[in-house]
Amino acid sequence: MSTFSQKPGAIGVFDSGYGGLTILDKIRAELPDYDYIYLGDNARTPYGTRSFDVVYKYTLECVTYLFEAGCHLVILACNTASAKALRSIQQKDLPILDPARRVLGVIRPTVEAVGAITKNGHVGLLATTGTVQSDSYPLEIKKLYNNIAVTSEACPMWVPLIENNEYNSGGADYFVNKNLQSILARDPQIDTIMLGCTHYPLLLDKIKKYLPENINVVSQGDIVAKSLADYLQRHPEMESRCTKNGTCRYLTTESVEKFASSASIFLNETVEAEHVDIC
Ligand code: DGL
Repeated sequence: MSTFSQKPGAIGVFDSGYGGLTILDKIRAELPDYDYIYLGDNARTPYGTRSFDVVYKYTLECVTYLFEAGCHLVILACNTASAKALRSIQQKDLPILDPARRVLGVIRPTVEAVGAITKNGHVGLLATTGTVQSDSYPLEIKKLYNNIAVTSEACPMWVPLIENNEYNSGGADYFVNKNLQSILARDPQIDTIMLGCTHYPLLLDKIKKYLPENINVVSQGDIVAKSLADYLQRHPEMESRCTKNGTCRYLTTESVEKFASSASIFLNETVEAEHVDIC
């Protein structure tokens, strides 16, 4: 029997840090009436270089926190957590914690969208080392399409560049160009590139600058927002458990001052965050 409140609550949006704000922004634009709680595990970010067991443990702790805060539905707005923790949480933990609650990730909707975009079946993935090593994208693609080949490129410098507000610097140009040349050298026929990390939309201008114009760049915000809208429509039992006052709370495991100043890089508004201790 679940110990969580059964009263309707906000939709939870979780990321290891700030990247999930690029997803939250699009979700709020698509579904402005709902209430949201964003939780950034900024004190333990980045997840991208951590082991499977550690990402799973941290993600489960944060999801449980959001359930305790009243959320019935939690979106993992983090590819690394979606790749390394989602399946275990859905299959092992939800049946024990509360079988009626739901946790959704960002990989499946992205893969579904990419199938309709690529013309020649040559797709590139740019992501953290953890997401690339998990093989989650190629495995999900294989489940849905038998004619798409994925070439993956880990970009370990991109998240630190963004988190340190260096994404407009010459250093960012250097690393973006380096990773793009590397992936294109391995498959020169790529016609579609997936940004498989929620931080990467901040580098979109630079990515486009170094890619041939005919290559599609797919970022996840709009895709995940539309997929959530569709999910809520198909699941009225969950929709009725999501409150609608148009509010958004921001929780961080780091200092609230640091969160507020960095969050403004990702959002076009200033936010007031609340500190939470998790672990
Ligand atoms: N935003 C996370 C993702 O989508 C990566 C950040 C991190 O390494 O923690 O994978």
